[in-house]
Amino acid sequence: MFLTPTREERQVEDVMLVTSGPLIFAAVLCISTGVLIQQNFSVSYPSTSICGLKGSFVDMPCTYSYPSDRHIRETFWHINWFPEAPTDLSLDSKYQGRVEYLGDKVDNCSLRIKDLRDSDTKEKYRFRLTTDDRKGTFSGSEVSLSLADLHVTVSPESVKQGDKVTLTCSTTCSLSNNPTYI
Ligand SMILES: *[C@@H]1O[C@H](CO)[C@@H](O)[C@H](O)[C@H]1NC(C)=O
Ligand SMILES: *[C@@H]1O[C@H](CO)[C@@H](O)[C@H](O)[C@H]1NC(C)=O
Repeated sequence: MFLTPTREERQVEDVMLVTSGPLIFAAVLCISTGVLIQQNFSVSYPSTSICGLKGSFVDMPCTYSYPSDRHIRETFWHINWFPEAPTDLSLDSKYQGRVEYLGDKVDNCSLRIKDLRDSDTKEKYRFRLTTDDRKGTFSGSEVSLSLADLHVTVSPESVKQGDKVTLTCSTTCSLSNNPTYI
């Protein structure tokens, strides 16, 4: 009996065609989860969309792993991807002095971006690690950044001296670090 390939089987064939670009291959499988895995390389973000307040800072939590027979050379975040080779965000003039790598060279790749600007939301952020092996370079999937607008509502709307008033702060997206309002 001859069976025509099911939809899934055909998809697998399609994916196999792009194995010459291993990153693309992995991205097809895992992009929706924020985890990108390839040959024991993995970069994982608990959240791929981060929200912050203009002028404030955000942390982009991130963990990674790599084959045990390799040694880590560089760990950095980048925004550029193509056509130039990815370069360290902290050396980018638009970000100079505003990015702080909170991670290490073991498994933590968290990043902090400070003094957030509107233009920061136009980029996609990726963690990258390079190892002592020429082929042992890997970038995670993308993290996007949005800036929240802050709204304050007063309830009740009109009050006189001595009345109890409730001030409510709300944001247009849910802030990733627990903010304090003053
Ligand atoms: C890759 O991962 C597999 C499964 O977890 C493990 O058995 C193997 O030792 C790993 N290889 C390296 C080089 O880290
Ligand atoms: C990574 O490091 C940062 C900064 O030290 C820390 O806040 C965070 O909890 C660490 N994340 C993990 C998963 O260990």
